[in-house]
Amino acid sequence: MRPLIAGNWKMHGTGPQLPEIAAIAARVRVTAPTADILICPPSTLITRAVQAAAGQIAIGGQNCASEVSGAFTGDVSAEMLKEAGAAWVIVGHSERRQHHGETDAMVGAKAKAVWRAGLLAIICIGETDAQRRAGNALTVCADQIAGSVPDGITAVGNAIGYEPLWAIGTGHTPSLEEIGHMHSHIRQCLVARWGSQGREVRILYGGSVNPTNARAVLAVPEVGGALVGGASLKATDFEAIINKIPAHV
Ligand code: PGA
Repeated sequence: MRPLIAGNWKMHGTGPQLPEIAAIAARVRVTAPTADILICPPSTLITRAVQAAAGQIAIGGQNCASEVSGAFTGDVSAEMLKEAGAAWVIVGHSERRQHHGETDAMVGAKAKAVWRAGLLAIICIGETDAQRRAGNALTVCADQIAGSVPDGITAVGNAIGYEPLWAIGTGHTPSLEEIGHMHSHIRQCLVARWGSQGREVRILYGGSVNPTNARAVLAVPEVGGALVGGASLKATDFEAIINKIPAHV
């Protein structure tokens, strides 16, 4: 399976940051990495980001509404993101779940909307520090998959983003063993749900991935790529992560 290295810019970036995307695209053109490369900038930059990406890397949204259109002030639909040039949408990021009250059911409806629009989804899950300390990390993630990953759509090409909340933006990551354990657990959940198609879903690790730890993280079995926040904002850091994709992934 081709890995996916996805950058999540969060609420960072205006026009002056577009050259970072152009620089990554230029590098990808030269190095032709054996991975899909994606940057998810703020929605306001998507159209210009697609131009800067020059067909070398995909551009995605960070969230979408579940409806196509309507009286939903401030919301943007998956169809609108597609029209702007997005190929992917991140749904259920923990910052959306925490700060915007998104439930598993809401995330599932958003994932369906992404598929309805003909785009690919990164559906995010992950446990809190307290849940891990209580020994509940595996159950929490299994429940999030059960509640946020809808049935009825082909799994192929889509991704689950496993992001332990305590690892996001903190510089702390789980051990490689813990990552491997969780990723194989997620794989089992996907196969139990989707059968052999569950093997076609890329499981991304996210949470403080950087140029220093990327090689080891990406080499863990069942890690099908990375969802990168802070280290995706600068082309030099993001390129350094792309360069760490192991040959066997
Ligand atoms: P981080 O963020 O790489 O800055 O920890 C990851 C994410 O939240 O997607």
